[in-house]
Amino acid sequence: MTESVSAPPSALTTQQVVELTRQLNYGTWRFQKSWNPLHIADAEGCYFTDGNGMRYLDLSSQLMCVNLGHKNPAVIAAIAEQAETLAYASPAFATEARAELSKLLLDVLPSGLTKFFFTTSGTEANEAAFKIARMFTGKTKIVARYRSYHGSTMASIAATGDPRRWAMEPGGKGHGFVFAPEVNCYKCPIQHTYPSCGIACAEYLEHIIRNESDVAAVIVEPVVGTNGVLVPPPEYMPMLRDICTRNKVLLIADEVMSGWGRTGAWFAVDHWDVKPDILVTAKGITSAYVPLGLCATTQRIADYFDDHYFAHGHTYEAHPITLKPAVATIHEMQRLDLVRRARRMGDYLGPKLQALAAKHPSVGEVRGLGLFWALDLVRNRDTREPFNTMAQKVDGTPLVVDKVAADLLKRRVAIQAWISHLIVAPPLIVEESDLDFAVDALDASLAIADAAVS
Ligand SMILES: Cc1ncc(COP(=O)(O)O)c(C=O)c1O
Repeated sequence: MTESVSAPPSALTTQQVVELTRQLNYGTWRFQKSWNPLHIADAEGCYFTDGNGMRYLDLSSQLMCVNLGHKNPAVIAAIAEQAETLAYASPAFATEARAELSKLLLDVLPSGLTKFFFTTSGTEANEAAFKIARMFTGKTKIVARYRSYHGSTMASIAATGDPRRWAMEPGGKGHGFVFAPEVNCYKCPIQHTYPSCGIACAEYLEHIIRNESDVAAVIVEPVVGTNGVLVPPPEYMPMLRDICTRNKVLLIADEVMSGWGRTGAWFAVDHWDVKPDILVTAKGITSAYVPLGLCATTQRIADYFDDHYFAHGHTYEAHPITLKPAVATIHEMQRLDLVRRARRMGDYLGPKLQALAAKHPSVGEVRGLGLFWALDLVRNRDTREPFNTMAQKVDGTPLVVDKVAADLLKRRVAIQAWISHLIVAPPLIVEESDLDFAVDALDASLAIADAAVS
């Protein structure tokens, strides 16, 4: 007879959890010495709770990924069910979860994307996209843009425009990546003004393609995420589609962050009815409950590999425990009508954030779409000079946005900050009262940035 064993009481104090984590783990994208991570002990809906029982509004959905909010019962049940039925199968096999998700993806992805490769992160999904583009076209170069992030692994970091790439320059960087100017009408990198510019940044990208030759693909975040929620003017994405088609270059849409209802459409490209050749996504595909990425291609690309060697794979490709929760996530998004809800709540949030801009001299611009917004903070509204630079981000200088974010945390609002802007991207289930709470806290904490205005 076996004796019943009760679960041991939690062995670690909050202080021990924090100490063990910072001593034994690397903190990402930072100097290690100053890392003092908050212990998250629990989370539900749009809030999480720390080890001392304090509750915080999760205003950036962790890393802009917990789109359904925390503890969605249907997604949790899907993980448990799949673990009991079939916890793992080699990618060589067909599984019910794989078939079910693939069929469902055809309903929600932009039309024309019909063949799927699954990964366990956004960066791996981009690696797959680059290899597929290179094999399919027989060409090498990838054109990316400066204000972008495509992931941390070797090809994805080489395609990343932001300073997270710099530590790999030049020797550690994959070859064949070329940078074009981003679309940023608030601070145009080529000093033009919309609309009289005629979308010169897109025209310049075409100039790059023609002069480089050997270009396999262009990769863009249709709405740039971490680098400032840069929403392109309506002409930009259709123009880019046309440029890629005319130059026989594939268009890769990196929707790791902008997908899954975040912008008030299933995918950001849907706003302009643009059909990419490859769409890459991750994060919200499972509301981040399990690690899943997706590289989706057109049938034209898929057909090529019928008679050509598909030289790519992972042990965890199409891992059943990553796929079944994605099925549940999509069903939950449909049941709760979250894409439309993101649009509606964005209509509520946008004017409130704009009102903050009118009141606070440190807010240079507020921009966004759906439930995806940035507050761009500036030292000087006339020159649009940011408080801090990319170089300061990587040399460890204390940043004004980090001070604002730390003050917000004291007011029980957790927010992502990057160089000189804050990203507002709450779970898509957020209520108006949560947004009111967030805007009040922002109103108070922005005083810190206002005091640094020159
Ligand atoms: C647009 C974009 N692409 C790729 C990635 C990389 O995804 P992951 O961190 O899952 O590798 C990210 C992560 O933030 C992202 O925002």
